[in-house]
Amino acid sequence: MSILVTGGTGFIGSHTVVEFLERGEDIVIVDNFCNSKPVVLDRIERITGRRPKFYEVDLCDAEGLERVFAENPELESCIHFAGLKAVGESTQKPLLYYRNNFLSTLTLCETMARHGVKRIVFSSSATVYGDPERVPIRETDRLGQTTNPYGETKQVIERILSDVVKADPAWSVSLLRYFNPVGAHKSGLIGEDPKGIPNNLFPYVTQVAEGRRPFLHVYGNDYNTHDGTGVRDYIHVVDLARAHLKALDRARTVTGVEVFNIGTGVGYSVLDVVKAFETATGKKIPYVIDPRRPGDIDACYADPAKALSILGWQAEYDLTDMCRDANRWQSMNPNGYDGADA
Ligand code: NAD
Ligand code: UD1
Repeated sequence: MSILVTGGTGFIGSHTVVEFLERGEDIVIVDNFCNSKPVVLDRIERITGRRPKFYEVDLCDAEGLERVFAENPELESCIHFAGLKAVGESTQKPLLYYRNNFLSTLTLCETMARHGVKRIVFSSSATVYGDPERVPIRETDRLGQTTNPYGETKQVIERILSDVVKADPAWSVSLLRYFNPVGAHKSGLIGEDPKGIPNNLFPYVTQVAEGRRPFLHVYGNDYNTHDGTGVRDYIHVVDLARAHLKALDRARTVTGVEVFNIGTGVGYSVLDVVKAFETATGKKIPYVIDPRRPGDIDACYADPAKALSILGWQAEYDLTDMCRDANRWQSMNPNGYDGADA
């Protein structure tokens, strides 16, 4: 029995593969390296002592994917991370985002069905709630208006997978709505490696700490929050990775669709993050206050009670752990995986 992990060399996928390998499960990764590097496989092996089976295949390539399933008849489930995820880029290249994220998912599900594999855990996002009607957000709260093609693909893929279950109740679909994944594995060997100027807060902060950028731009201090800066639910990527083990365990015992918020339930502002990072690392993070970033909201954090009651999962790491581990990864790999050795 083995698990297909699409996008398994990416940020969240690589951390999840490590957790599964350490639990003794067999993994087959499919990735086309459009946003990751082969050296991640070496790093996974260094951490776990095991090298996952790997196929460099684009999920939109039906023949390539068919070969993966044909050569691995023991596949019993799939964790589907592969997708393009940059919100800003998705507004500039909507067709690329729609093509990649939809076609890959459709091709994957068709191939799975053909091979009788009907269990899937999907990487959704809190972005499906749009501007939430209230915080903390529950899974049953209304889905919001998406403001970009990336968010649209998450909402529509959730519906596609739900329709698959309606048509064939033998499927088991787990939709995990991630809040803000940050941090890195404690080894410092794997972490987040954004291309170019980071869009997200944590990678920007770690690059300021490393001296790669002079200061952080804080996007707005007039939000309706305790200090005026945006509040989010940051979750350590290893906690998030472990949620996939619990979600798959559950999907192995039930059929149908289930949705889970995967967050800590605690919201921190941008300035809280800056302070926590400085305290955890002893490094100064200079910042300037800039105007709001279009599309940003005041506050977004989860009610993670359902994940605890049904999956038996809850976050174990706090903001200090996230800052310490993100900083260790960045210090050990100042240029991310660029030019990195095994
Ligand atoms: P990532 O870019 O690091 O990993 C995605 C991986 O998928 C990459 O290795 C990329 O090469 C691969 N990929 C993309 N399209 C592919 C294709 N057509 N065929 C084969 N491989 C392909 O991103 P991540 O941060 O690890 O995110 C994983 C998933 O979680 C994504 O679906 C993302 O939308 C979702 N998500 C991420 C966040 C976040 O903040 N990181 C938040 C919510 C949801
Ligand atoms: C972003 C995406 C969201 C995605 C999520 C997952 C946008 C508009 N939204 O959400 O769709 O699901 O990532 O990771 O990109 N900030 C700064 N300075 C920076 C960067 C960010 O002040 O350089 C602030 C933002 O205004 C926000 C907070 O930090 O208040 C977190 O931002 P970010 O890390 O980009 O995450 P989200 O905006 O929550």
